[in-house]
Amino acid sequence: MARVLIIYHSQSGNTEMLARSVVQGVVETEGAHAVFKRAVDADAHDIRDCDAMVICSPEYFGYMAGAVKDLFDRTYEELRDDAAIYKKPYCIVISAGNDGSGALAHIERICKGYRFRKVQHPIICKGQITEETLTQCFELGRTIAEGVNAGIF
Ligand SMILES: Cc1cc2nc3c(=O)[nH]c(=O)nc-3n(C[C@H](O)[C@H](O)[C@H](O)COP(=O)(O)O)c2cc1C
Repeated sequence: MARVLIIYHSQSGNTEMLARSVVQGVVETEGAHAVFKRAVDADAHDIRDCDAMVICSPEYFGYMAGAVKDLFDRTYEELRDDAAIYKKPYCIVISAGNDGSGALAHIERICKGYRFRKVQHPIICKGQITEETLTQCFELGRTIAEGVNAGIF
């Protein structure tokens, strides 16, 4: 059964809405299980034990949320040489007021350091959350789960 970890941080709820749509896409996929956690509550075990990971962050001051960075800070040393995370499939969802590129670039850079493998294009939602973006996130969740189940990722 595909185990997809969705981690997020959200102050005013936008990123959480996107992340919940990703979760919905995962759980509506047969044979898939979603582990949905705030970044502050996640740890190295969550990352090691999942088959794929979706990292959901708002952009704050041109960067990822501090809580998402904190998850990386807390887990890097433990995981850096762990074969279980080598080429771990991941993708990114960003909620931003009008940009999102800074948060995205910094998360991608860190994921390179972990040697995770990006398997889908990121979603950047600028401004208000729309039904269209929620659908994109749903489809992302489904695609990740199906990809893991099919052995593609
Ligand atoms: C402290 C703070 C800093 C922000 N900095 C940026 C920024 O650099 N670029 C941007 O596009 N939006 C920025 N925003 C807007 C947020 O990215 C946007 O409102 C996002 O949807 C918030 O997600 P959340 O509801 O999950 O917290 C900032 C918002 C806050 C509160």
